[in-house]
Order: sequence, then structure tokens, then C-alpha cells
Amino acid sequence: MSATQQRGRLALRPQDFPADFLFGAATASYQIEGAVSEGGRTPSIWDTFCATPGRIRGGDTGEVACDHYHRTREDIALMRELGIGAYRLSLAWPRILPGGGDRVNPVGLAFYDRLVDDLLEAGITPWITLYHWDLPQPLEDAGGWPTRDITDRFASYAATAAGALGDRVHDWITLNEPWCSAFLGYGSGIHAPGRVDPADAVRASHHLLLAHGKAVEAVRSAAPQARVGITLNLYPVTPADDRDTSHDLARRLDGLHNRWFLDPVFRGSYPEDVLADLDPVLERGWLHEGDLEVISAPLDFLGVNYYTRHNVRSSPYPGTNLADFSGRYLPRAVNGWEVDPDGLSEVLTRVSRDYTGIPLYITENGSAWEDEVGADGSVDDPERTAFLVDHLRACLDARAEGANLAGYFAWSLLDNFEWAEGFATRFGLVHVDYETQRRTMKSSGRWYSGFIGEHRTGILTA
Ligand code: FCB
Repeated sequence: MSATQQRGRLALRPQDFPADFLFGAATASYQIEGAVSEGGRTPSIWDTFCATPGRIRGGDTGEVACDHYHRTREDIALMRELGIGAYRLSLAWPRILPGGGDRVNPVGLAFYDRLVDDLLEAGITPWITLYHWDLPQPLEDAGGWPTRDITDRFASYAATAAGALGDRVHDWITLNEPWCSAFLGYGSGIHAPGRVDPADAVRASHHLLLAHGKAVEAVRSAAPQARVGITLNLYPVTPADDRDTSHDLARRLDGLHNRWFLDPVFRGSYPEDVLADLDPVLERGWLHEGDLEVISAPLDFLGVNYYTRHNVRSSPYPGTNLADFSGRYLPRAVNGWEVDPDGLSEVLTRVSRDYTGIPLYITENGSAWEDEVGADGSVDDPERTAFLVDHLRACLDARAEGANLAGYFAWSLLDNFEWAEGFATRFGLVHVDYETQRRTMKSSGRWYSGFIGEHRTGILTA
């Protein structure tokens, strides 16, 4: 029986993951830190976006969020309780370089410096993402990601961060999900800065990729032993019916979501069919000679964020271009995302087969449920545990099919500020009561901790 035929049948046993497989959890600065005007931090595009009425569900903001800025010790204690080997955090650019200029803010840097030391002391390896969406507002005012100059600003920020922390931090992720920054930020406008202009969105995507390439070089020069990668949000895109129009829609969406980022990073070219699709919106001059060489600088790993699949059919109404994200009649999490673990193994095997043999790390995977604190103070979330079990099993399936998967970071350590969805959508292994900032390990967190513990014991007794 081939590994494909066995899909879904592999038991989930911690010992089936190799001894050096990394189990971690992830967060992002704006989603947890709060303290937005403390320690010399200046506004990011998310502060501005949150202050704009109607942008965020319930009018929520990241002003306080999980107050992590003042509670790092407590949160590291939770990480220890989970037993994670690695913690993926992101740096707030406007904390380190207020206003996005060249002046380094020692207080901002000291915050991360201490955090890194405390993590290392707790035996947890810090993984740093340089950009998880909190662009300094003045850089947006100067044109934002659609402007080419920003790529040099990002490279110099990367050099500063790696210069300060690179003696202790070895794993660096340049960007988190550039698709979201470009197409949600400048295309649909549902994320900060909330602009709606297709040409700007495409230009932004190119400058994000170029900034990534320049940052790879900057991090390596500042910290020669660094391992550098990028995190992409990859979705399998499948046609929901057999009509040619649905197949073409799936091709276009796969092109813009997945291949538009994978191809330049791993092949040094943009996909021809997507270039043709975008021709009507693209203005000349956005791609300079040599850009693709910079973008395709060899990487040490690829970070993959996986949440769901896009199963799409074209609208049956003639003359319209609309996609119908029909789904596959699978259970849905509270935010509407279908739970589709097979999609995770498909994504991982595709990347390994078609693009690269470098190690892959799932840098985010998780789900949102109606978590409630019970009368006894506990939070029981069996759906999240089941999600973890099914997706970890999908990781084993992908490994059995040859994917070079080396680690898994759950999203998220804590419930947090879920961007335009505000605080209503909870993804944490740990529940946060936003009134009191009380943290409660959910039953899924306890399950994950037991699983990681067994994996570690297996290693120690092997
Ligand atoms: C991803 C983001 C992350 C979080 C999850 C649910 O797209 O990278 O910050 O919001 O979705």
C-alpha cells in the first residue's frame, strides 16, 4: 500500500516524529504586546487602522491586547508548562526603530533582548519574525509597500535587529504571509492600511518579496550563523466542479495565492500565466533587472502557515468573475474556516515535490472555537485538541510521502487580537480573560503538553 493510500490511517504517536523534530507555539507582536505607546514605541499601521471607526469588529484595538509587554515572565512560565522547544515571536518594527527611521530605540531593543535571554534561560529556542504586519505609520505615509524605497528601509531594520540579537537568535523569518500584507492590506482593504487598489497590491507584493531578499542578505551579514527563511500562507486550491471556468478560477487563485510567492523565491521567476492574468492592472516598470536574483537568494528553511483549503467554483452567472468558495462540506471552525487536515499534507508534499528540498516548518496552524470558562474555572476545548491531532497526523502523512518537515508551531500560544476580527475569535492554547488578563491553560494546551512530553521522553529513553 502506498503512503497516499494510507493517508489518514497513520496513528498519531509522538515517537513517529524524529528526535530533533521541533514542537513550538507562535504569536505576533501587535496581537499580544499591548503597551503601544510605552518604551518609545511609535504607531504602526495597525494602530491607525484600529482607530478608524468600522474597521475592526467590536471596535477592538491592540492597545492592551494580552499585555504581554508587562507579562513576559508569566507567559514564559506558560511556555514551560507546555513544554515547547521553540517559541516564534515577532518584533515590532516601530519599537526598535521609532517612526521607521534609522534611530535605534534602546528601550525597545532592550525589551526583546531580555525576552530572548529569558527564553534561552527557560530552555526555549526563540524564532524571530521580523515583519508580522506592524509597519511604522510614517513609512505608510511615505507610500507604504507599493513604494520601492521601503525595501531598503526593511533591510536596514533587519540588519539592526540581527546585529542586536543574532548572537543568541539563530532562526530568522523575514516576513509573515506577504500575501496578506499585499492583497488584504492594499487590495481588498480588510487589513491595514486598508487601501483598495489592485495595481498597488501587486506592486506591494513585489516589494515585500524584494525586501525579503534584501533582508536575507542583511541578516546573514549581521549574524553569519543565522538560518533565514520566509513564512508563506499556502492553501491547496481545488475546483469544486468540472466546469472549465471553475478549473480556470482554481488556477488563477492558486497562481496568486501560492505560485506568485513560491515561484520567485524558489525559481527566480514570476509565473507566466499569473503575469498574463495581471497584465490589465500592472503598470510598467515595477520589475527591475536583478530583482528576481535578490528575491531567490537561497534559504535555510521555508515556514508554512496552514489553516484551510480553497475549494472554488466560478459563479454560474454569465459575465461575472466571482468565485464561490463552496467548501467541501467539512466541519467549520467558528470563523467559518473548514477543518481540512488533508490540505496540510497536500501543501507540504507539493512544496517538497515541486519547489525545494530545504527543511519545512509549519510556523502556524490552529483553529478558533467558542471557548468558555467553566464554573470550575477550566476551559475545555475538545475541538481544538481534535484539530491538533488531525493536523499532526497530516504532518506524519506528509513526511511519509517525502516532505522534509522538521517542525510544527501551533497558532497560538495565547488567545489574542485577531486583526479585523478583534478579540472575539480565540486561537490560543491558553485562554486569556481580557478584563483581568488571567491566563488559563485550555484542555488542548494540556493535551499538547502531554504529547510533547512523551516525544521528549521517547528521545531520552531511546
Ligand atoms: C494568520 C496570521 C496570524 C493569525 C492567524 C489566525 O494569517 O499570520 O497572525 O491571525 O492567521
